[in-house]
Amino acid sequence: MPKKSLFISLEGTEGAGKTTQMEMLGKYLEKKNYHVVLAREPGGTVIGDRIRKILLNPEFKAMNPITEALLYAASRAQYVAEVIKPALRAGKIVISDRYVDSSYAYQSFGRGLNLKKIVDINNWATDEIIPDLTILFDLPADVGLERIKDDFTDRMEQESVTFHRNVVRGFLKLAKKFPDRYRIIDGTKDVHSVHSEVVKIVDKCL
Ligand code: TYD
Repeated sequence: MPKKSLFISLEGTEGAGKTTQMEMLGKYLEKKNYHVVLAREPGGTVIGDRIRKILLNPEFKAMNPITEALLYAASRAQYVAEVIKPALRAGKIVISDRYVDSSYAYQSFGRGLNLKKIVDINNWATDEIIPDLTILFDLPADVGLERIKDDFTDRMEQESVTFHRNVVRGFLKLAKKFPDRYRIIDGTKDVHSVHSEVVKIVDKCL
C-alpha cells in the first residue's frame, strides 16, 4: 500500500467548486489505495467547528477584522494540531478545503489587514506547516456568487462583490508569490474537466 504523506490545499472564491473537487480527488486517491484525510476550514475539529459558527454567523456584522483574522487562525491552530500533523506523520494524504492562503486572501487582500501580520499569526498557528501543493480554482467573483446565490446565508458570502473581487485578485497575486506550490485551474470549466486537471497535477506529486 502506498505510504507517502502529502499536504494539498484547495483554494478559491465562493462557489469555485473546491468542495466537490475535494470529494472527487479523495475518491480517486482512495481507489489508488492511498490513505486520505479530507477536512475543511474553518472547522475540521469539534472546537474549530464552534469557532466556524461564530465566524460565519450573519448576525455578527460588527466583527472587527482583527478578531476575524485571529479566530480563523485559532481554528487553524486546532486543526493543525489535531488533524494535519498526526495525518502527515502517519504518511497520509491530507486534502484541505481552504488553508492559510484563504486568510491571506480574505483577511489581507479582502479586509485590508497587513499581509505580514496575517502571515505571522498563521505561521504561529500552524507551526509553519505549509501545503506541498495549493490548487487555486480561479473564477470571477461574480460567477462564483451567482452559483451560490440560492444558498447565500453566511457572513462572508454576504460581503460586497468588490470585497470578493479583491479576494480573487489576492489569490492570483499569491499564486505569483508562491509559484513552487501553486497551480491554477480555470474554475469556469465543467466539473469533470476540472477534475481531470486536478488529477494530472496531483499525479505528478505522488
Ligand atoms: P465555507 O462555507 O467553508 O465557504 P466555501 O464553501 O466557499 O469554502 O465558509 C468559509 C468562509 O470563510 C468563506 O467565505 C471563506 C472564509 N475564510 C476566510 O475569510 N479566511 C480563512 O482563513 C478561511 C479558511 C475562510
